[in-house]
Amino acid sequence: KSLVIAIDGPSGSGKSSVAREVARRLGLAYQDTGAMYRALTLVCLESQLDLQNQAAVEALAKRFFFEQWFDPGVGMVSAGIDVEHALDVTEEIRLPRVSEAVSAVATNLGARTELIRRQRAAIESVRGRMVVEGRDITTVVAPQAEVRLLLTASEEARLARRGAQLASSGETQSAADVARQVLARDAKDSTVVEFQRAADGVVTIDSSDLDFEQTVAAVIRLVKE
Ligand code: C5P
Repeated sequence: KSLVIAIDGPSGSGKSSVAREVARRLGLAYQDTGAMYRALTLVCLESQLDLQNQAAVEALAKRFFFEQWFDPGVGMVSAGIDVEHALDVTEEIRLPRVSEAVSAVATNLGARTELIRRQRAAIESVRGRMVVEGRDITTVVAPQAEVRLLLTASEEARLARRGAQLASSGETQSAADVARQVLARDAKDSTVVEFQRAADGVVTIDSSDLDFEQTVAAVIRLVKE
């Protein structure tokens, strides 16, 4: 039986690690849709494509190769201009140059339409047994999901988490730089997708004062209800 758990939220809300852990515990597949936007952005950058060229980015969205391992224990992403040029891009899509450019791709409506189509196909491919995480999952990609959740956290908590994430990945940016980037990205993303407020029928969990385990437990409780 279908069990789609749709999770939206801003960057640094902790939604990726929470979504992955929920999938692991419930034996569901896991899809990180941000990874698809990031991979398309990386492929555009590598092809020296002008990100402002809407038609060119949309055309590339339609033909680029993208594959994500749905096993929550793996989390590997491979992508390329086509299948022959596909590479493991798991680490590269997290680089600052990708984070800085990704909103330009995410605000391209033609590209979005294509990525949304692929994300829905991914849900179908596991017969709806999936935790799907992003910005527009509860509203656009899977509004019929059995569980729809907005995971928020205060600005303070989000910036602290993002900073800790970058530090552990060896990134040497200052906390102030990180803060500026995260807020700028959220502001740009908000122009196309509403992920700061919960849509009708979407449950909000504020994780500012919850630790990882408490947040995971709160999500699993929603499933059992
Ligand atoms: O979740 P993550 O921070 O990796 O997402 C990277 C970017 O991809 C976001 O900043 C946003 O621009 C875009 N995105 C989106 N819709 C989604 C998921 C991500 O527009 N469902």
